[in-house]
Amino acid sequence: MKKPTILVTGGLGFIGSHTVVELIQEGYTPIIFDNLSNSSLKVLDGIEQITGIRPACYTKDILNTSAVEKTLRAHKIDAVIHFAAYKAVGESVEKPLEYYNNNVGGLISLLNAMKKVGVEKLVFSSSCTVYGQPKKLPVTEKSPVVKAESPYGNTKKVCEEMLQDISKTSKGKTISLRYFNPVGAHPTSLIGELPLGIPNNLVPFITQTAAGWRNQLTVFGTDYNTPDGTCLRDYIHVVDLALAHVTALEYLDKMSESYDTFNLGTGTGSSVLEVIKAFEEASGQKLNYKLGERRAGDVEQVWADCSKANKLLGWKTKIDLKQMMLDAWNWQVILKKD
Ligand code: WQD
Repeated sequence: MKKPTILVTGGLGFIGSHTVVELIQEGYTPIIFDNLSNSSLKVLDGIEQITGIRPACYTKDILNTSAVEKTLRAHKIDAVIHFAAYKAVGESVEKPLEYYNNNVGGLISLLNAMKKVGVEKLVFSSSCTVYGQPKKLPVTEKSPVVKAESPYGNTKKVCEEMLQDISKTSKGKTISLRYFNPVGAHPTSLIGELPLGIPNNLVPFITQTAAGWRNQLTVFGTDYNTPDGTCLRDYIHVVDLALAHVTALEYLDKMSESYDTFNLGTGTGSSVLEVIKAFEEASGQKLNYKLGERRAGDVEQVWADCSKANKLLGWKTKIDLKQMMLDAWNWQVILKKD
């Protein structure tokens, strides 16, 4: 039976593009809506090479409500997966207004278009940043959502609160997926995280250092209250994360509540030094790094309790840290420095 047509905003982005691939492979028809602010049409080529299908792609801005509305109508969209947002924590501190306008304004624009057309199912891309530094670990969906440490984190918190309020008076169904640390790349190395500028995140910085694009990795802080003194995070393979979106779509039709949230992680915390070790073992590359000072704003340790997603979505991660590092490295080695 033909599966529904899904609008994927930000569908050429890192997680969006991997989700588009899994949607196609599960028989859905994804329609991409992406303004190319943090992606490129080359990603569409990669999606086509992997799946044999080139999805329709609208390179328009999510803030253009009438363009969103037209697209929803033209393709008789059944549900929306909303990735389109800016996501650089540090940049959000420098440009808060751009982040609120794009991330919160963009969601409002999408919701207005969906309301006009009568599209009532939404999967929202949220983040574990809403938990800040949890007092109790692993963190569950019932753990307190705290004051965000950055405008980026606050846009995710505000969007979740907005969706929860709206869901109280609408017939629609909405799920917020709280990602932990997405890493890696598609095993074909045909799509992955595009290297746009100096990476803020650990794994692209590791692979770019190993590839000689960066001189040396600095480990931000070795005096934390953790087994080896470096921060702990829950790193999750981007393909595992993409598959969670397919199961969340299916859950929308079964869920009794109008709004729900799910943690998406592996349930394991890995330290920075453990990630470096896994990378060196997986890639066979010796990494040039030094031990440095803490980075402002970092939480010491956070990892997920994903039992709710395991149970209700029937979803569990399958890919381990070493494979995450190998896929990230295999993607890096084919990248050309722009
Ligand atoms: C991980 C660890 C750093 C770079 C990210 C996203 C955030 C959210 C969660 C989606 C930290 C250390 C890093 C480096 C280092 N995802 N590090 N040297 O901070 O957990 O947040 O994932 O919403 O948006 O930003 O990830 O990869 O930046 O850092 O030692 O050069 O690696 O201190 O302990 P983070 P990260």
